[in-house]
Amino acid sequence: MAKNFDSNYPSVDDLRNKAKFRIPRFAFEYLDGGCNEDVSLARNTNDIREVQLEPGYLQNYGTSSTKTKVLGMEFDAPFGIAPVGLQGLMWPNSPAILAKAAFKHNIPFILSTVTTMNIERASELTEGNAWFQLYNPVDDAIRDDIINRAQAAGCPVLVLLCDVPTFGFRPRDFKNGLALPPKMSIANILQILGKPTWAFNTLKYGQPTFENLKPYTPEGLNLKQLGAFMDKTFSGRLNAEKIKPIRDKWKGKLVLKGVASEQDTQDAIKMGFDGIILSNHGGRQLDAAQSTIGTLQGVADKYGNQIEIMLDSGLRSGSDIARVMASGAKFTFMGRSFMYGVGALGPKGGDHTIGMLKTQFQQVMDQLCCEKVEDLPNHLIKQ
Ligand SMILES: Cc1cc2nc3c(=O)[nH]c(=O)nc-3n(C[C@H](O)[C@H](O)[C@H](O)COP(=O)(O)O)c2cc1C
Repeated sequence: MAKNFDSNYPSVDDLRNKAKFRIPRFAFEYLDGGCNEDVSLARNTNDIREVQLEPGYLQNYGTSSTKTKVLGMEFDAPFGIAPVGLQGLMWPNSPAILAKAAFKHNIPFILSTVTTMNIERASELTEGNAWFQLYNPVDDAIRDDIINRAQAAGCPVLVLLCDVPTFGFRPRDFKNGLALPPKMSIANILQILGKPTWAFNTLKYGQPTFENLKPYTPEGLNLKQLGAFMDKTFSGRLNAEKIKPIRDKWKGKLVLKGVASEQDTQDAIKMGFDGIILSNHGGRQLDAAQSTIGTLQGVADKYGNQIEIMLDSGLRSGSDIARVMASGAKFTFMGRSFMYGVGALGPKGGDHTIGMLKTQFQQVMDQLCCEKVEDLPNHLIKQ
């Protein structure tokens, strides 16, 4: 088995534990938590792990390839880095670390509208390969300008997020007074003082800000005004009228992220999306939600030949990736796993996490006697 990761951290759990130790609590809890009572957060992973696969030990076998195609592009592994907001708050410079690692390993990196690095920089680090996730702005002029910038930066895929008609109800964030820059309550200052590497790197890379939004944010806003600006700019739910001008304007592949029902899958097909990411935002929006693997099982067979179906939420290992791909997804994404990796290992975290997941995934393929990623569904014995 080729091993291209640090043996001290052979699982996402190991990375999470180390990250917890290095990140101030208010930022770690923002990353780690779900919403409400964290039911959906747990259900996502638990349901994926119910899936069972059949091994094959006696057939002739060459070698497995982890390469796969999605949206007409070939990647070295069937997983990518999901968009995560406020990344620099959890670990300084983390979006750049992850974008570079994704490019090196030829897997997709999706930049969030509300993260701490801008589209132009993501494009520079990935030679135009970064995907861009759009929170649809209320103001059409801002929307069009962001789309123009993503297009000019060469982004091949625009990922439109649909699952934030309201922000998630996240008890820890309320208690921690989470804000950007971090609210300097006594509790938060004490947490920062206890995490010297994080504090040193934050000084080195500067206070994280919403880099994509700088051109539209009036100068000199205090925190409260910035919060009000963000609420005003991004509130609102999507519908056919709001999506049409985006589909008309965007020349590349268009993906809808946050789909969690058969109805929304059908609508996405009608609206001309090239792909969907079945996602419940990692259990951060609707605590009563179905797990994403549950939704996949209802839509993969019915709609998989009409639209490319990808999935995120709850994957924490190469075995999880194999289970989801065997259940009919064309590709997978992970959010927290990569952020835990960077929180644990800093600049080496992206490389490590990708290498580890790829090794784990390939080991499963070898057990199954599965040479091609596309053949994984033939090994599914229990969903
Ligand atoms: C801290 C955090 C911030 C996130 N921010 C965004 C975001 O800005 N845009 C977005 O589309 N999804 C966002 N997501 C959701 C992820 O893209 C992804 O759907 C989710 O993390 C997948 O679940 P997993 O963390 O269990 O892998 C965020 C998730 C986390 C954990």
